[in-house]
Amino acid sequence: MAALGYVFESQTDTEVIAHLIHHHMAQGRDLLAALQAAVKELTGAYALAVLSRREPDRLACARMGCPLLVGLGEGENFVASDVSAIVAATRRVIFLEEGDTAELTRGAVRVFDADDREVAREVHVSGVSLASLELGPYRHFMQKEIHEQPRAIADTIEAAIDAGGFEPALFGANAEAVLGGIAGVQILACGTSYYAGLTARYWIEAIAGLPCSVEIASEYRYRDAWADPRHLIVTISQSGETLDTMEALKYAKSLGHRHTLSICNVPESAIPRASELVCYTRAGAEIGVASTKAFTTQLAALFQLTVVLGKLHGKVNAEQEADYLEQLRHLPGSIQHALNLEPQIQVWAERFAGKQNALFLGRGLHYPIALEGALKLKEISYIHAEAYPAGELKHGPLALVDAAMPVVVIAPNDRLLEKVKSNMQEVRARGGELFVFADHGTATSANRKACT
Ligand code: F6R
Repeated sequence: MAALGYVFESQTDTEVIAHLIHHHMAQGRDLLAALQAAVKELTGAYALAVLSRREPDRLACARMGCPLLVGLGEGENFVASDVSAIVAATRRVIFLEEGDTAELTRGAVRVFDADDREVAREVHVSGVSLASLELGPYRHFMQKEIHEQPRAIADTIEAAIDAGGFEPALFGANAEAVLGGIAGVQILACGTSYYAGLTARYWIEAIAGLPCSVEIASEYRYRDAWADPRHLIVTISQSGETLDTMEALKYAKSLGHRHTLSICNVPESAIPRASELVCYTRAGAEIGVASTKAFTTQLAALFQLTVVLGKLHGKVNAEQEADYLEQLRHLPGSIQHALNLEPQIQVWAERFAGKQNALFLGRGLHYPIALEGALKLKEISYIHAEAYPAGELKHGPLALVDAAMPVVVIAPNDRLLEKVKSNMQEVRARGGELFVFADHGTATSANRKACT
């Protein structure tokens, strides 16, 4: 572009694209045709909405790898990456497909496929509620979403509770045949969704008796993975639009995996649309930047998947199923109990505010929970945090522990509690400050802080 005389004010790819579109308009194309010509020269993922001073009543947009939708209003139309941005104005939306471009004026919308042929895409009516987009009494959306967890979990398990059991139909019409015929599970996801998958592995292997591997989607998609077509591919994604997860799903299919299931929070997003079976979590709109209620609703969905698999593979009997259902029924109440600890957590947060680093420890299925805790702390407070399986402490990380290093321990009253207690002793011996999440009634000791 520089060779054509364009002067750059930034080093962003967005500016390159703007100049490229301008270049095509200078050859006599209108805005849409210039955009269509420009995207053919692009590689990678983009979601573009373009305006030109020459055609101020027209908007052209293009999508590849990133979410983009068109909202259809009365005498007005919209482009957005998420329904929540436009739901106050309209609920009627068209989800653009990979390679699509579109042209919008106040009165009309035209959509074109990757070959620039005009196409009719389905119009969806979004069910996102306006109330879910308002802050209410909360200070920020992350706080609101944390407090929405009891409701979000109750909604996600509602169908199982109403049915009085875990039916394969929770995952789609054909789920019984598909889930009953698989020989294992391969979970693919990113970030927090990956940690939900890591947690589920403990359940799927222990309760359903099936082998389960979990892999970060951005790693899986670029390696020569070994594929067993009898294994079910489970993708987990709040947004349903994460490019690495979508590409990992495509790659798994190309390796011969025939059966795919998506656990997702956003209906009609790309990943569930590309999957054979779907389970929608019902967390509601996620506005806050960090996943909170999305994570716990994913866990609720994955637990339901585990019990369904256990039933279909003869590992869960009717009595155990009833017991799991009863435990699930109490989950929203237990979460509310944990949320009532907020004042105590605020006191802890003030002690953390001045720290540079933190360690999170857990064992068994609480190790992925520790990973998620460390991710949340670094993402939201910019404090460096790492998580370890508590048994790994003595193999290196213990060297980092001193009075300046807060150590958060997840220590529920399970069969690993005594092991975790001895790990806490190692921290104490090095003068580390312990912050312990334990079950109510678990014995506490003088020099640690505990949330029960
Ligand atoms: C962390 C967080 C991210 C997402 C990750 C995957 O708080 O939000 O780590 O979990 O980007 O996103 P989804 O689940 O939409 O595929």
